[in-house]
Amino acid sequence: MKKLAVLFCLSLGWTSIGFAATTKPVGDAAAGKNQSVACGACHGADGNSASPFPKLAGQGEKYLYKQLQDIRDDLRVVPTMAGQLVGKTDQDLADIAAYFSSQERSGGHTDPQLLELGAKIYRAGVPDRKVAACIACHSPTGKGNAPAGFPALAGQHAQYVADQLRAYRKGYDDPAGRTNDGEAMIMRTTASGLSDKEIEAVSSYVAGLK
Ligand code: HEC
Ligand code: HEC
Repeated sequence: MKKLAVLFCLSLGWTSIGFAATTKPVGDAAAGKNQSVACGACHGADGNSASPFPKLAGQGEKYLYKQLQDIRDDLRVVPTMAGQLVGKTDQDLADIAAYFSSQERSGGHTDPQLLELGAKIYRAGVPDRKVAACIACHSPTGKGNAPAGFPALAGQHAQYVADQLRAYRKGYDDPAGRTNDGEAMIMRTTASGLSDKEIEAVSSYVAGLK
């Protein structure tokens, strides 16, 4: 049965060869580890950073690969990372994504004072302000949806999450914000309806998810 499944996947691979140029190369975590030495200064050697640098450990490979391409190609501008990805090929980025994705993410915690509001937004959104329920894409446990490229939020630093939500909110009508969430503008639309207090609460909530 297993062999059959493998053969089936291989044959699918051949029929979709026309898309080869746009699909992600298969990442090699060991090669990615060698490519990631300089990253450790900010992100931690195993991808568990100190706040406010984002944790990369345990993040979905597809999401990481997309962000690495976007940062390298200036679709997501990260001045702190200037020069870090210069000269890196798509294969290098796939290897780096495989490495950090394979690492175990450390946990975080939720401020008890923000728990109720944060949980409410995470589970139900704010329907009258176009804020979609986070749970639908980022999953009940915050692990995201790796094959779909929806990032994990569980255990991420609250400060970083809040920074990103403010950057998306800004990006809704200002290109200086974060604008790399695609043409559907899922995150820009979602974040544009959140107040500062709501951003603080939902960010603290996801930091404590496991
Ligand atoms: C000098 C500090 C620094 C170094 C070194 C650094 N980064 Fe970053 N990185 C950051 C900061 C700050 C952010 C968050 C930027 C923002 O707020 O948008 C970030 C964001 C990222 C993200 C996006 C994370 C997410 O959840 O969306 C990825 C992926 C990433 N870095 C990978 C790397 C890799 C791979 C290297 C090494 C080749 C590296 N970084 C080196 C500071 C650094
Ligand atoms: C319809 C699906 C969907 C919904 C609903 C959604 N998100 Fe997202 N979110 C995404 C996708 C897709 C991305 C990655 C965009 C990209 O590829 O750059 C993302 C990215 C993010 C990021 C950036 C993660 C990082 O590591 O930088 C944060 C933070 C986030 N979402 C928080 C939320 C919160 C909080 C809510 C609810 C208020 C929410 N999202 C609702 C799909 C969704």
